[in-house]
Amino acid sequence: MKIGVLISGRGSNLQSLIDATAEPGFPAAIALVISNIPDVYGLERAKLAGIPTRVVDHKSFAGDKAAFEDALHAELSAAGVELVCLAGFMRLLSAGFVNRWHDKLINIHPSLLPAYKGLHTHQRAIEAGEKFGGCTIHFVRPAMDDGPIILQAPVPIIAGDTPDTLATRVLVEEHRIYPEAVRLIASGRVRVDGERALVDQNK
Ligand code: GRF
Repeated sequence: MKIGVLISGRGSNLQSLIDATAEPGFPAAIALVISNIPDVYGLERAKLAGIPTRVVDHKSFAGDKAAFEDALHAELSAAGVELVCLAGFMRLLSAGFVNRWHDKLINIHPSLLPAYKGLHTHQRAIEAGEKFGGCTIHFVRPAMDDGPIILQAPVPIIAGDTPDTLATRVLVEEHRIYPEAVRLIASGRVRVDGERALVDQNK
């Protein structure tokens, strides 16, 4: 399965996908990496791995979100992408784009959804006295951080945790479950039934 990865920054989750897809027998390959911000380190990671990259800079579309998303769609389609992975992509995508990639567009979010949608998830979880943070891979729907949950990993919140210390431990889990979710989807083990993703772990 050909995947496209959308980034806006350092790309550590992209790196976990690059590493996984380099393993023999992995059922997906990265066909294209797109950043909406020029010169981010994630683009270097892709280049070092020999993966084609594009910059589709939202700022060059003068506020025309539909044109920005059309450009993203055109690049992904031209590369033959079958599954789009958002990996630290910091633009909200509108319903037009999301619906064109229905059940073919996934995101990683650093909380146990549906708790803590949006930003500053670790800080909010610590301040609320939660005992677990974590991360979620989900299919994308038009509402922010919404959609059928594919995989989650809980991470204990321990005394003295700061948003940074918790983020560091959650990131270890992000890098484990994102490639795993792609592997499951690419091997046909994920089915969406209503608004639930059913994952066949045993096939
Ligand atoms: C990750 O914490 C991811 O969960 C969130 O944005 C961050 C991206 O980090 N959506 P990176 O660019 O993959 O290192």
